[in-house]
Amino acid sequence: MTVLPSWTGAQPVPTTSRTRLAVDSFASVRVRVVGVARDISGSGAESRDVIDVTVPHSARIWNYWLGGKDNYEVDRQAGDEYIRVSPNVVDVARASRGFLVRSIRYLVGEAGVRQFLDVGTGLPTAQNTHEVAQAIAPESRIVYVDHDPLVLAHARALLVGTEEGATDYIDAELREPGAILAQAEKTLDFGRPIGLILSGIMGHVADLQEARAIVRRLLEALPSGSYLSLNDGTSTVHAEVQDAQDQYNESGAIPYTLRTPEEIAGFFDGLEIVEPGVVSCPLWRPDTGQVGTPEPQDAFGGVGRLP
Ligand SMILES: C[S@@+](CC[C@H](N)C(=O)[O-])C[C@H]1O[C@@H](n2cnc3c(N)ncnc32)[C@H](O)[C@@H]1O
Repeated sequence: MTVLPSWTGAQPVPTTSRTRLAVDSFASVRVRVVGVARDISGSGAESRDVIDVTVPHSARIWNYWLGGKDNYEVDRQAGDEYIRVSPNVVDVARASRGFLVRSIRYLVGEAGVRQFLDVGTGLPTAQNTHEVAQAIAPESRIVYVDHDPLVLAHARALLVGTEEGATDYIDAELREPGAILAQAEKTLDFGRPIGLILSGIMGHVADLQEARAIVRRLLEALPSGSYLSLNDGTSTVHAEVQDAQDQYNESGAIPYTLRTPEEIAGFFDGLEIVEPGVVSCPLWRPDTGQVGTPEPQDAFGGVGRLP
């Protein structure tokens, strides 16, 4: 018997102008679990996407490593197999999320950014981008982007933001930056600085030149004073991560390419790098209250300002 994760008990989505974009997308989501079709929106709309629970899945494995409950047996098995080869991966996932949170705090609290485009949303977890930003500046506006039907099914959880601000969700493909930008313009003011968040996603574009072209295309649309916060996986700290990743990439999940710190730094070409530069995530502006010296992990990231 298949155990359905918690999100399958869909709740009605409040329809407001701020949520309409996501509701329109959400209404057409249909989830098929091992041969059983279930319309989680209750709309009876035609099936557009199917969530396959027979192969491991990037966002669900990430959710498992981060201690979440929105994952299936197949994801836990793949996640455990990764841990067996590379025991540090849970620390890597936490290091990446910790960097994401601190970089958003920096962008809102110190750089004064009030708008964010977060591509590669993942499943909701503690301290999502809008929660971190709006806790400091309630008027912050956040647009999430992902191509995954499971993330889309969770979108309603991401739409509960402050009254003063806005949180929206776009169901779109990273490889189509033009489509992302066209939809994001409905919520974000492209005349004012925007924080572009690319956390753990660029490794999903195997070709480095293609990945760099996508980042450039997104940055070109942003005004001066905008920022990029990007982090991705490496195998610099623990070489066995590469073995675990190779095995993972053969599991049927969407492959992810580990990069060198230099390749990750290359995404920031043309930007003014914020101190301390592109470093292992735990070393990027660690919280002042942290006890002890942070240990490097195989996630490297940085923040850069568009001149
Ligand atoms: C490892 S998770 C990272 C989630 C989150 N950004 C974080 O840092 O915790 C990668 C996310 O990128 C999304 N993703 C991967 N390839 C994508 C693509 N081509 N277009 C849009 N989203 C993609 C996946 O669905 C997944 O939600």
